[in-house]
Amino acid sequence: TTLALATTLAVSALIPVHAEVADTTVNWTREQVSKIELNKDNTLPYTDVSKLEKFTEDYHVWDSWPLTDRDGNIASIKGWKVLFALSAPNNVLPGKVHDIATIRYFYSKNGKDWTLGGTLFPEGASLGSREWAGSAMMDDGKIHAFYTATGHRGQEHLTFEQRLAMATGDIVADSKGVRFENWGDHKIILEPDGKYYQTREQAQQGEGGGYAFRDPMWFKDPKTDKEYILFEGNSGGAVGDRTFKQEYAGSIEYTSKNPVPAGAVHANGNIGIAEVVDGDPSNLKMLPPLLEANYVNEELERPHIVVKDNKYYLFTDTHINKYAEGLQGPEGLYGFVSDTLFGGYEPLNESGLVLANPPENPYQAYSWLVLPNLSVVGFAHFGDIGDMSIGDIGHQPDEFQFEHFGGTLPPTVKLSIKGDTTKIGKEYSPGWIK
Ligand code: FRU
Repeated sequence: TTLALATTLAVSALIPVHAEVADTTVNWTREQVSKIELNKDNTLPYTDVSKLEKFTEDYHVWDSWPLTDRDGNIASIKGWKVLFALSAPNNVLPGKVHDIATIRYFYSKNGKDWTLGGTLFPEGASLGSREWAGSAMMDDGKIHAFYTATGHRGQEHLTFEQRLAMATGDIVADSKGVRFENWGDHKIILEPDGKYYQTREQAQQGEGGGYAFRDPMWFKDPKTDKEYILFEGNSGGAVGDRTFKQEYAGSIEYTSKNPVPAGAVHANGNIGIAEVVDGDPSNLKMLPPLLEANYVNEELERPHIVVKDNKYYLFTDTHINKYAEGLQGPEGLYGFVSDTLFGGYEPLNESGLVLANPPENPYQAYSWLVLPNLSVVGFAHFGDIGDMSIGDIGHQPDEFQFEHFGGTLPPTVKLSIKGDTTKIGKEYSPGWIK
């Protein structure tokens, strides 16, 4: 039987298990990415980050997101707006921030001057050994807080396992501010299936390649009233199971002039989606990815959708060093537009690039989020981070350390959109949301 088992394993190893995709899953292609060009409509003005006032004295902050209502509009509770951000005390060793990331929240009447409220969850309540990005939606006096549970609580050695999690609590607002109380149980609401979305085990088979299953983002489709969670994933299957498909690259004309390097196989970023069942945000039905970047890009972070003029604008962030071999692109915000929620996405501005750091400061800011009124929030790096950026996580050796790091909120920037083209507009004060 040992021999029979060995033979079965050997034979099955020869049959590629193709990553499953649905007809509606769109590819972001190598040909599209090859059209990336920085210009005045997509390049952020230079910011001297060292001169920015720190968003909050005692903490580094990076990924942020506002409290919204169920429809995705920025919420107001007794006149207060609420902003959540990943944070870490600013006196810890720079390399530690991701390992102890904690969601803290801020409240403000004018959306400009923020007061630190504290941690979102009571100490020790969340699942995972640290909290990574998510979203928060309020309904009927309650907050539904979605986050990424990274690692496992109590583990001795940090692992990078990522699971989508949530908890529901009460929102208490008075003239002094906002707080959250009476939290229910924390629940894991989605884990990778290995078919559409790569598991951590698959990512560890063979050599290299990304792993992400994170950043749950609430979305209600105004056309159908159906509700969803978008998330960052990687296409299912291990590196050795993947086979190249022409549609990943673009036209034959393009690939005949620009052959696809074998090493591009390591890139398999995707944008995942799950449907909310019976209006219960903790009950999710996993669906095939909205978009994949196989042989193109390894990390499509913090995906989110803004609906404008009856069109779906799907945005995501990625890093310089997440492009597949043979392709280049900046630390940037990227976007796609479609008339339908599923299928049909075309890259904005032909390449997908919407917003890029200025070439003289390529790591100036990151983790941009487009709000319903098309203002864009993100975070800025201060200090020297060499050629690494804070998003370089999830696949790094666990002892991976950042050289120097600090995070604060940069000026909010306005975006204008016309059909499938976008333009950067005015800058507003740091962390301004409306
Ligand atoms: C983006 C990101 C997110 C993740 C967080 C962890 O900056 O990589 O995808 O949730 O940072 O710090």
